[in-house]
Amino acid sequence: MIRFLIPFLSTLAVLVTTVQAQVEGDPKRGAAQYRACIACHSLEPGTHLTGPSLAELWGQPAGEAAGFIRYSEGLGTADFTWDKATLDAWLADPQSMIPDTYMIFRGIADDQARADLIAFLEIAMAPGGAKAVLDRGLVPAEYVRGQKPDSLKTPPPRAQVTKIRHCRDSYFVTTADGTETPYWEMNLRLKLDTRETGPEPGKPVIVASGMMGDRASVVFARLDELMRFIAEEC
Ligand code: HEC
Repeated sequence: MIRFLIPFLSTLAVLVTTVQAQVEGDPKRGAAQYRACIACHSLEPGTHLTGPSLAELWGQPAGEAAGFIRYSEGLGTADFTWDKATLDAWLADPQSMIPDTYMIFRGIADDQARADLIAFLEIAMAPGGAKAVLDRGLVPAEYVRGQKPDSLKTPPPRAQVTKIRHCRDSYFVTTADGTETPYWEMNLRLKLDTRETGPEPGKPVIVASGMMGDRASVVFARLDELMRFIAEEC
């Protein structure tokens, strides 16, 4: 009797694991999960943030989003395409799939939550996905754009930088409203934003980034402006 039961039981075990592995995903619930991704990804073709745009990557080779030049060695040379199974492994634990990956994300342990997110991504990462998820009311427009910084084209005078001098351990930033504000040199970041929505050439912008207003970033349109705007002067 036992001898007949063993093959039966093992078939049952295989069936149970297959059923578990194929949890049905709900794109609506998955759309809510996708919030965890928008700090680093957009769904607009060609709009890359910290991570590549996820637009139209469904069924496409990993590590080949057009125009994204910051892939890790591991993802950049990977040899697989994005589908349910590969996304499931990636989202469960990116670090164990691609050990040196630049995607800093601890992974989603819950099988159902991953299945939901993948059901959403199957729509969002398909050709025309950005429009599809908006038309179906799955996500607000912000989720499609991703959390890219606001446009720096028309800053108020208070944010328009006219001069920066460096003296000893400090920067003194002058803005178009005539005020000069001191920052400890370790608290001021100098950044470039070369995108279309970045500052006008020759018109750097200061944006607060600390809770206390102690820290800020000055954003320049081009590299050569850094040297033009900052002088050693006490
Ligand atoms: C902190 C930023 C960050 C977050 C949050 C993040 N990612 Fe990423 N993602 C990246 C980076 C950076 C890469 C490129 C990784 C590399 O080159 O190793 C990437 C790569 C990817 C890729 C591979 C794209 C390709 O071109 O092959 C997919 C798919 C992906 N992420 C999906 C997601 C999803 C879905 C979420 C939300 C659950 C998410 N990511 C959250 C930064 C992030």
